[in-house]
Amino acid sequence: MTTHQELIDRDRKVTFHASTHLRDFAHGDAAGRVITGGKGINIVDKDGREFIDGFAGLYCVNIGYGRTEVAEAIYQQALEMAYYHTYVGHSNEPQIALSEKILELAGPGMSKVYYGLGGSDANETQLKLVRYYNNVLGRPQKKKVISRQRGYHGSGLATGSLTGLKAFHDQFDLPMAGVLHTEAPHYYQRAAEQQGMSEREFSAWCAEKLEEMILAEGPDTVAAFIGEPVLGTGGIVAPPEGYWAAIQAVLNKYDILLIADEVVCGFGRIGSNFGSHKYDIKPDLITVAKGLTSAYQPLSGVIVGDRVWKVLEQGTGELGPIGHGWTYSGHALGCAAGLANLAIIERENLTQNAADTGAYLQQRMQQAFGDHPIVGDARGVGMLAALEFSADPSARSSFDPSLKVGPRIAAAALEENLIARAMPQGDILGFAPPLIATRDDIDEIVARTERAVNKVTDELVREGVLQTA
Ligand SMILES: Cc1ncc(COP(=O)(O)O)c(C=O)c1O
Repeated sequence: MTTHQELIDRDRKVTFHASTHLRDFAHGDAAGRVITGGKGINIVDKDGREFIDGFAGLYCVNIGYGRTEVAEAIYQQALEMAYYHTYVGHSNEPQIALSEKILELAGPGMSKVYYGLGGSDANETQLKLVRYYNNVLGRPQKKKVISRQRGYHGSGLATGSLTGLKAFHDQFDLPMAGVLHTEAPHYYQRAAEQQGMSEREFSAWCAEKLEEMILAEGPDTVAAFIGEPVLGTGGIVAPPEGYWAAIQAVLNKYDILLIADEVVCGFGRIGSNFGSHKYDIKPDLITVAKGLTSAYQPLSGVIVGDRVWKVLEQGTGELGPIGHGWTYSGHALGCAAGLANLAIIERENLTQNAADTGAYLQQRMQQAFGDHPIVGDARGVGMLAALEFSADPSARSSFDPSLKVGPRIAAAALEENLIARAMPQGDILGFAPPLIATRDDIDEIVARTERAVNKVTDELVREGVLQTA
């Protein structure tokens, strides 16, 4: 039988891995792992070692691993009709049923669903729709898009530009012209610098900064604002009180479209069908992916609201069919997986579980880390949580990045057979367990995390970085 090590050695020779230190991996200086299976909240590698997946893949395997019901739905659809394109009005039954379901969950004001394969391509579609919309309305200069520092919206040329993280720009000549980044709603980090503002004051300040940017650029040049209801990859940051109301007031004042990127929050992760519902966000366009199929098939969607849809119809009335489409738009296997996945979420009340067990997750994180000597902020909402590490929590000061405290703690968690994610910017450890997690699962995740954080804290004391733990 092929061993795990043999597979990793073969992999090093032939695969270009995402978000990986390419040289170290190719030369055997960074670890590899081949995953062979999973059940519930656990995954298993080729050696049979089992890990709790505290990040649900990349916050996507919301129904957990090994759901034969979804595999069966994909298989049956593949037997019947695996693929036909959806151009020029062609459709398939799962696509129709899935669109109906998504629109039902999204609620009033949403009109149609366009499908892609991942969050990046869906946001690419959003950008094209925003341009098309303003061109049809005779406002060709209204094209700029405002995103946020620490936002994550993909890693293509345009969507990587929307992303507000340094590593996604450096050496790629990004962001592209026409994409701007306003303040991140990161109260913990930014409010201290802004002289102890309350959450509400900080939200108002973020809205002021946005308005200043719009006025400096010229409101007639700004087409859209894109944001995740809860910042995800930028650090798992729930919005401060009053944030979305303040932001939306500014957008409405200058007739700027709002794109809610629900790739992480959509389909239950924070205890509501969409993050927009929880924070009373009224988007014109919504991006979904990840939780739509729990990653059993690649599938994303752009949900188009009535206001934009009317203009798209007007545009094609004047110009003919819209020049946008992917070969795999509305892929029947993806849509079949989506339907089976959403049926499980509904039947097992997983959105409610994300609210209830998610509240327990937040409570346990607070108990364990609220006063920890290297945790500056223990935060989250629903089944999203983060620990932001600090050399001196009372001053909210960061560790020297070269100490790599976040990645070291993630590595220590891995030794405890727990996967938690060292987020890409800052020393932040992220958690996004599958929505099926129970209270016992949460206790286990927190216990393993405590051991990992304490281990690295002790190391930092021994290294003289901290005085005492
Ligand atoms: C909020 C958000 N938008 C878009 C994306 C991009 O999705 P994908 O990696 O499927 O292209 C991600 C991925 O993590 C995301 O978190």
